[in-house]
Amino acid sequence: MVTRRRVLAAGIATGSAAVTGASLVPLLAARQAEAADASAAGTTPLTIELFKVPMPLIPVARPVSTAHGVDTYEVTTRKTIKEILPGIQTELLTYDGQFPGATIKARKNRPVRIIQRNGLDVPISRHLHGASVPQDSDGSPMDTIAPGGERTYTYPNKQPHASLWYHDHAHHSESESVYRGLQGSYLISDCTEDALPLPKGKYDVLIQIRDADFDQSGQLLYAMSDRNRNSLLVNGAPYPYFEVAARKYRLRFANTSNMRFFELRLADGSDLIQIGSDGGLLPSPNTTKSVYLSSGERADVVIDFSRYPVGTQVVLQNTAGRGPVEQVGQVMRFDVTRTADDPSSVPSVLRTLPPLPAPTGSRTIVLRMDEDGRPDPQAYMDDKLYDPERIDAVVPYGASEIWTVTNANVKAAHNFHMHLIQFRVIERGGKAPGPAESGLKDTVVLQPGETVKLQATFDTYAGEYVYHCHMLDHSAMGMMATMKIR
Ligand code: C2O
Ligand code: CU
Repeated sequence: MVTRRRVLAAGIATGSAAVTGASLVPLLAARQAEAADASAAGTTPLTIELFKVPMPLIPVARPVSTAHGVDTYEVTTRKTIKEILPGIQTELLTYDGQFPGATIKARKNRPVRIIQRNGLDVPISRHLHGASVPQDSDGSPMDTIAPGGERTYTYPNKQPHASLWYHDHAHHSESESVYRGLQGSYLISDCTEDALPLPKGKYDVLIQIRDADFDQSGQLLYAMSDRNRNSLLVNGAPYPYFEVAARKYRLRFANTSNMRFFELRLADGSDLIQIGSDGGLLPSPNTTKSVYLSSGERADVVIDFSRYPVGTQVVLQNTAGRGPVEQVGQVMRFDVTRTADDPSSVPSVLRTLPPLPAPTGSRTIVLRMDEDGRPDPQAYMDDKLYDPERIDAVVPYGASEIWTVTNANVKAAHNFHMHLIQFRVIERGGKAPGPAESGLKDTVVLQPGETVKLQATFDTYAGEYVYHCHMLDHSAMGMMATMKIR
């Protein structure tokens, strides 16, 4: 077992092969962006052992009522003390004491109603990321629930199957509140998905990955743009192991970090089959060595563990992002402990997406933040800071628009998330997007200098919705804007 010690030097430290073993690949961490961003605030040493704890399975939320074809849930946000690191009690912000929040399983065309109470001393807003919902249930940044307050959100679930997630969105506090635990998954299923012979039931597993910065006493440290969030949590547990059978699993990865990007691969370099992205299944499976997830993105992946003899342990590695490789280069371990029948398979066609309508308009979006090292950097959408009173884009209801989104920074990475819409990626860097972006997306990465063209069709709800960088520290700094669909 490897013991790792928090490295005092901030920023990019090179990993020691002696500590981590031969299975570690070199981190691609030397992205200039991240090197330049590294600041010097170190934290005290804290030892977290790798692969010591089992990966928790995130519990499924239970409705308080299923009457009249609507599933109703009652949820309260509250402070909770929980054991995250072995033997240490950590204070968290939670939905009903769960870290991460319980998974809501929804069914297409069956509405979900959430009676949300706020037991915290900060305002909250409950946003369902990736969902098509009326404005008053979007949980937008200014539409908050005061401490002690309550409101009801209604989600129609008219969209196709998708692996969505919910999180706090109260402007300025969302970054810290999400970091401290206000997040969970929301899965919509439908007949299209049911009909496929994919791994199901206990072989369909949610894996939420995020980073954290623990102080010496094991409390979560929060500072805007903290460069020391170098401890990884999987379903709320540090670097866990997951005991699997030698058969296929569907693993629904979600990057729920505020800022960190992951590139996930198996240590032996064997294949992953990506079958889904933000907005549900891809048109066809994509066999790949790795999946790349910026903050907020999801990827459904099938791994066939039958290729490993029982007794094999295979590490899930991360090759993206800043930080010491011995802390951020290994995420979790799959331990193949038994055999099992496997009636599942991955068909060559997963779904058919409707053809894209002819575009009715276009606009450009520029993401940029101060990256000259000034003490109080701000982040802009089209050179403006977020102003909730301002409408930045007026979109005619029913329009299908091409949005050309550019990251104008030379060092900082961003990503782009639009509320309400599952869009299509048309071009990345002037070329057709890769297979990982062939499905429906609600969040796309933008490396420094990169341009992505997407097509969004606004035919579900009218109203005001935000779009923003999903590196939550950036959106809290101002990289957010409002569109009005009318
Ligand atoms: Cu994940 Cu504005 O949202
Ligand atoms: Cu950003």
